Amino acid sequence: MNVMTKTDISRVIAVLDAPALVPGATPKPSLISVEDAKAMTVARMTDLFKGHINPGQLHFMKLLGFNRIKVERAEGMHYIDQNGRKILDFFGGFGSLAFGHNHPRILAARRKFQEEKRHEIAIAFMSQYASALAHNLAKCSPGALDMVFLGSTGSEAMEAAVKVAERAAGPKRSKIVYAENSFHGKTKGVLSITDGKLYRGEFRLVDGAVRVPFGDIDAVENAFKSDPEIGVIVIETVQGGGGIVSAPDDFFPKLRALCDKHGVLWVADEVQCGLGRTGKFYAFEHYGVVPDVTALAKSLGGGKAAVGAMIAKRDVYMKAYGTPKTAMIHAQATFGGIGEASITAIEALNILYDEGLIDNAATTGAYLIERLKALQAKYPSIIKDVRGKGFMVGLEFHDFSQTLPALLRPVVAMLDDKLKGSLSGFVGALLLRDHNVLVAFTEYNRNVIRLEPPLICQPEHVDEFISALDLLLGRGIVAIVKDFVKSQVT
Ligand SMILES: Cc1ncc(COP(=O)(O)O)c(C=O)c1O
Repeated sequence: MNVMTKTDISRVIAVLDAPALVPGATPKPSLISVEDAKAMTVARMTDLFKGHINPGQLHFMKLLGFNRIKVERAEGMHYIDQNGRKILDFFGGFGSLAFGHNHPRILAARRKFQEEKRHEIAIAFMSQYASALAHNLAKCSPGALDMVFLGSTGSEAMEAAVKVAERAAGPKRSKIVYAENSFHGKTKGVLSITDGKLYRGEFRLVDGAVRVPFGDIDAVENAFKSDPEIGVIVIETVQGGGGIVSAPDDFFPKLRALCDKHGVLWVADEVQCGLGRTGKFYAFEHYGVVPDVTALAKSLGGGKAAVGAMIAKRDVYMKAYGTPKTAMIHAQATFGGIGEASITAIEALNILYDEGLIDNAATTGAYLIERLKALQAKYPSIIKDVRGKGFMVGLEFHDFSQTLPALLRPVVAMLDDKLKGSLSGFVGALLLRDHNVLVAFTEYNRNVIRLEPPLICQPEHVDEFISALDLLLGRGIVAIVKDFVKSQVT
């Protein structure tokens, strides 16, 4: 006899509960409603994540204790969980939350847009919203960075950036230089210039990509001199995934000069470091030079919409797509310049200036770095380096793989290969569990904690974060590791 499983029973009940069908009508599957989604328990969410999204990823969430949290609301600098706990957000969605969570002006602009029943898809007709957003981006961009391609993600913006540069450089100059430890996205094209072994997996990559050490102008010059097929160089102005790494101050001015000399186009990836995060609209503005093409995404959507943009110098764009014959080669995709996303980005750019967020990133970001450096002086055997600009800050711990007490080493290694000897995972997990603070990590350098709080972050938030970190580090490494290990077995 067949025994019915719980799933079978719930299917039968769902069928019995369903309204009577009009003969021939398509039956509705047992779908979850919006209200039921909001009310979902952590256990059910875990089941669905495991069953339909990414079972392997849950492993890391469990290690860090992130799997116990259901975010009910988010406002300004905070997430609020199912128990009403306020979590201070120093992670900021890897730079996607410049305006904080649910900025009132952004919510109001979106609400009004909906109430007015404005249109979304802008394929048949021109869009006043996409046009205004492109205008605003050109106004925020220095030099001749005037032509804008709108998309939905950083990867899409970077694909557009690489393609416009490749076409402008021409088929005889189609090789691309990229940097060690780069991250430009996971879509198939930019994967070839993303330097992460993990992300590359065993995919077949696009050929003609030449890797150089990040920030090494001599290596760039050698590459340009030795290979006349190189027509494009793609570089993050500040490496995010690499662990918040800046090039030497003279690198970008020298790069600009080298590109001009060799006729190479410079693509600056500003997806993470752009939009005011480092204390200038674009991070390359710290160096007084302008690239040929750049890309933004993340916070451009105001924390509420998915918006990415490629911005190119007009002559570069016109060379690539400037005629009726070439215009549609890389014209906007279905959701490029979509209405509500565009007006969200328009409002976001206005807020950036109206609220002085770029200047706040510079000054409060400097305060964060100053306070972290004081902690480094207090815990020199734990903190190896503090670096960054504005609100793009890296905190690097010394590697503990060799200095942990011998007894703890195998236990830690057993827990997970990735966290072995790296204090950042332990510190991140305990900051969340005991101090209600969320920070970010990086795949490429397991000893680094990435701090990219919203640009609305105030000195008192910095003080709160620093006190939490100070209290935690004050417990000492052994206590931190022991506490973390215990949290994994209880
Ligand atoms: C520098 C950089 N470029 C590109 C991307 C890809 O952006 P997305 O995840 O929106 O596709 C990222 C994402 O982290 C990034 O940091």
